[in-house]
Amino acid sequence: MIKKCLFPAAGLGTRFLPATKAVPKEMFPILTKPLLQYAVEEALSANLTNMAIVTNKNKRAIEDHFDQALELELQIKGTQKEELLKEINAICNYATFTYIRQKQMLGLGYAILTGKPLIGNEPFAVHLADDLCTSEKGNSVLYQMIKIYKKYQCSIVAIEEVPMNQIHKYGVIVGDLIDNTNDTYRVTNMIEKPTPKNAPTNMAIIGRYILTPDIFNILKQTKPDKSGEIQITDALLTQSKQGYVIAYKFKGKRFDCGSIQGYVKATNYFAKQQGIM
Ligand code: G1P
Repeated sequence: MIKKCLFPAAGLGTRFLPATKAVPKEMFPILTKPLLQYAVEEALSANLTNMAIVTNKNKRAIEDHFDQALELELQIKGTQKEELLKEINAICNYATFTYIRQKQMLGLGYAILTGKPLIGNEPFAVHLADDLCTSEKGNSVLYQMIKIYKKYQCSIVAIEEVPMNQIHKYGVIVGDLIDNTNDTYRVTNMIEKPTPKNAPTNMAIIGRYILTPDIFNILKQTKPDKSGEIQITDALLTQSKQGYVIAYKFKGKRFDCGSIQGYVKATNYFAKQQGIM
């Protein structure tokens, strides 16, 4: 049973400066809810109850968000506003939150390795809050991926076909289709952020992973790439050569909230959904 979800949240969010000068990008709201709360809700909907968050010293607002706010609660006690804290309070009471601080910015692989003391020796999910996904109720992307994990018992990456002029932003997979009813591929090759010319396919990895714990030792041995970053894509490639890594074309819609355009699109989408505009 997978119980833990790792949230790498130590990124600087420089694309959103000056907004990220003092506010973690994971705390940016889509309407009234921060991205990381959507992320935790997705994990909960996949029956993951242990949230392991990789932060840094500028991200204290994250810990405060998933904790009680006694003063605030006292202020609004007995008013209609109490209702507005109901959802987040339920999450705080139900889920467990653990934190570790990342000291150096050396890529997603390094961030995941930093989370090892919070995960231990068990399979776990990884969720990148930048990639905000919506899907049919009760069938979140992580929920779908855990179903696939139960079948194959190996690392799983979620993928989406993207236009070739966007491919340089993603890890890209090559794979053999092994189940076309489920859109699952056995990964045979992977490459991190290729140029459109070098991209073998347009099947891009999005920010959802299920990883088996042997990934930690592989990450320790994974050399940094040209930019000095340790890539999870490279570690997964090693893992795919030792056994199986499955790529799964998820069902749902994704917004790249790491870009200003994607963030605005997500805001508009959720506003329409809720009848706000
Ligand atoms: C990371 C990964 C990349 C993946 C992407 C998904 O890149 O390195 O393989 O496709 O997340 O969002 P980043 O967006 O952190 O540069």
